[in-house]
Amino acid sequence: MTTAVCPGSFDPITLGHLDVVRRARALVDHVVVGVARNAGKTALLPADARVDLARRALDDAGLADVRVAVVPGLLVDYCAEIGATAVVKGLRGGADFDAELPMALMNRHLAGVETVFVVGDAALAHIASSLVKDIARHGGPVDDLVPPGVGDAVRRAFAEAREGDRR
Ligand code: PNS
Repeated sequence: MTTAVCPGSFDPITLGHLDVVRRARALVDHVVVGVARNAGKTALLPADARVDLARRALDDAGLADVRVAVVPGLLVDYCAEIGATAVVKGLRGGADFDAELPMALMNRHLAGVETVFVVGDAALAHIASSLVKDIARHGGPVDDLVPPGVGDAVRRAFAEAREGDRR
């Protein structure tokens, strides 16, 4: 039985993420979506909200057998804990590869964990969580970029942040 982790910030999960998870699911027996902390980013949504949104999106997409979990520390430690032999990441283009390569090499250096890159659907290559947040922050339309319910959660998070700023 092979297990792979699809790690990411998932802040929030997008249609592009779902596409990558679906492709990973076709390659291995078990896929775990690992909601992790990227030291270079400040998350909009708390980890439990990111997990809940991913769970709902996977269920709606017919991927109910994909687990979702928080990666509490190093990704390689989590892989060892659950017996995952590979990490699966999606590539939208060269910039993704440039960002992913050092992490893939480091995860191999740390624990021999291999990374498998899958090329996502070209029709979704313009979708990024960071762009979804940037558009939603300014009141733009994001609902066709993310699974149902995710746009509302992002808009709510921005409204709460603005409310907090006013206090
Ligand atoms: O979606 P992202 O932000 O590109 O995903 C990056 C992520 C969260 C997978 C990466 O930052 C990560 O693996 N974080 C967990 C902590 C860790 O293992 N850091 C060392 C990475 S070489």
